[in-house]
Amino acid sequence: MVDKSLIDLSWDDFDEQRDPRPAGNQFDAVVDRAISRRGFLGGALAFGSGAAVFGTGLLSSTTASRAAGHGGFAFEPIGIATDHEIHVPAGYAHKVLVRWGDALWSEADGAYSPETGVSVDMSDKVFGENTDGMELFEVDGREVIAVNSEYVNPKINLPAASEGVPQTADEVTLLKNLQGVTVMEVTRGDAGYEVVKDSPLNRRITHETEMTLEGPLAGHDLVKTNADPEGRTVKGTMNNCGSGRTLWGTYLTCEENFNGYFGATGEEPAGEGYARYGIGGEGRYAYEKFDPRYDISNEPNEPHRHGFITEIDPSDPTSTPIKRTALGRFKHENASMAHASDGRVVVYMGDDERGEYLYRYVSNGTYEEGGPTEGLLDDGTLYVAKFNDDMTGEWLPLTPETVDMEVAEVLCFTRMAASAAGGTTMDRPEWVATNPVKVEAYCALTNNKNRGVKPNAGGDETPVNGPNPRETNNYGQIVRWTPADENHASDAFTWDLYVMAGNPEVYDNEYGGSDNVTPGNMFNSPDGMAFSSDGLLWIQTDGNYKNEEDFAGMGNNQMLVGDPETGEIARFMTVPYGAEVTGLTWSLDKKVAFVGVQHPGGSWPDGEGHPRSSVVAVWRDDGVAFG
Ligand code: FEO
Ligand code: CA
Ligand code: CA
Repeated sequence: MVDKSLIDLSWDDFDEQRDPRPAGNQFDAVVDRAISRRGFLGGALAFGSGAAVFGTGLLSSTTASRAAGHGGFAFEPIGIATDHEIHVPAGYAHKVLVRWGDALWSEADGAYSPETGVSVDMSDKVFGENTDGMELFEVDGREVIAVNSEYVNPKINLPAASEGVPQTADEVTLLKNLQGVTVMEVTRGDAGYEVVKDSPLNRRITHETEMTLEGPLAGHDLVKTNADPEGRTVKGTMNNCGSGRTLWGTYLTCEENFNGYFGATGEEPAGEGYARYGIGGEGRYAYEKFDPRYDISNEPNEPHRHGFITEIDPSDPTSTPIKRTALGRFKHENASMAHASDGRVVVYMGDDERGEYLYRYVSNGTYEEGGPTEGLLDDGTLYVAKFNDDMTGEWLPLTPETVDMEVAEVLCFTRMAASAAGGTTMDRPEWVATNPVKVEAYCALTNNKNRGVKPNAGGDETPVNGPNPRETNNYGQIVRWTPADENHASDAFTWDLYVMAGNPEVYDNEYGGSDNVTPGNMFNSPDGMAFSSDGLLWIQTDGNYKNEEDFAGMGNNQMLVGDPETGEIARFMTVPYGAEVTGLTWSLDKKVAFVGVQHPGGSWPDGEGHPRSSVVAVWRDDGVAFG
């Protein structure tokens, strides 16, 4: 039996239980150093150090505009919420576009029941559970959304008697099918946007969909299995968290906590390649008991075939998704692609685990609009970010020369390469967003309760560092960087913190947050992020919503808007109690925002039965574009 306590853990706590620190980390030395650092940088001094890293933009944000509450924004910021509803500013409206279990094809009409959820035979014909990253594309004049279903809640989807642990192969199939990616056409009718049921563009991609491995790791011994002795054909993309889009109109889906799906029924393979990724022991969902592919005693290389960014062509439902190994293997949060001024393609990527890293990929070839894309995501160099305390930084290449690993090893065990190169360990890098109107990028560092308390997963023995300046960081921060020469492919950059979240009503030290955090806009745990075309930064939270103690006055999770120039931040939307906000994309005319509401509590949105994660459409009553 699966240890039932595994089912109830957050991914964050599951990581901690697996303890993926490098074997060579000397715990005692780290603690010694942490204590001495605390002596130098504790209390107000640490805050002073943190404050010094803020950009001048923040300092010019006047108290007058904050007192007005909505100085730079065309909406009246809203207050916090603690209820089971969605709230948006006055003059805006919202409706649910699609819920977990809604039919994508007519044959699945009625597949969802409030009592029993979705039947296994219809489970790959409905919208999946726990919606996450999404992107809208134009396909022959139609609007198509590609959207992730990150994971399933087995206690909701399986019969109550199972207590969330699959008892049959069919139950495992059900869980597999309700995750992955949905591609669905949407259209605007009299009642607003709707999913086009039976559209020829609709598609479900699950843990069973066949895809190919491309790039330098494809065909290597590390990815060969009994079922695929060539090491080039893989089933499934899993734990699809954030998203990205290419310059050429394809979807990038990011495999995050893939490790939890694998387990061992017998003797298990050992080594840092497993330990660093938290692979071993029992899986979270008992897959290995019913499908030998997930049993690392049987298929030790199968986990090496997951943890990638997968490219999907939303215009062709018969296309084969491609896992791009050149972009590295780790817990990919999202992928933000930029077009460097020299024509090369750049992809920024976070690895969401405490003390892991921020990465960048730079193609060798260049791209021109409408031109060939062959090799752009297969032939390039992967880098890890190093942030210096003097507000400069550099991208360290992960190559055989720099980390003493062959290329295929770098791509399979990217975390180990990043540690060897000496990257900066971060407070859980979540989404990266690249500003469309300025050469700069932002990464949400969601929180890190163990910063300065335990050794970093990455093993750099640094209790705090420049962009991660607070020990026991329960609030999170957003770091931004400006590439040298206004070129995203430059190896040097300068950086600052756009915001340090905190609670100014509870703390008057660094835990009160940066100057652009006020009692009127406070939040914790920034996670999803996207820019609108006007260069405003939309920030989505996945944090503590208990609204008491350190989090008093923050309420339910929320979506805020930030102005990169002034530093001003205003609350735009709150989601039902229990939910996180994740995923944001706009209609082609920018008049409607699509927002993901993941793991709501209560019975939202139906008002009875199970809570159902959903995508929500938001628009202005006056029909004016706002994206
Ligand atoms: Fe799936 Fe790191 O959020
Ligand atoms: Ca996330
Ligand atoms: Ca999160």
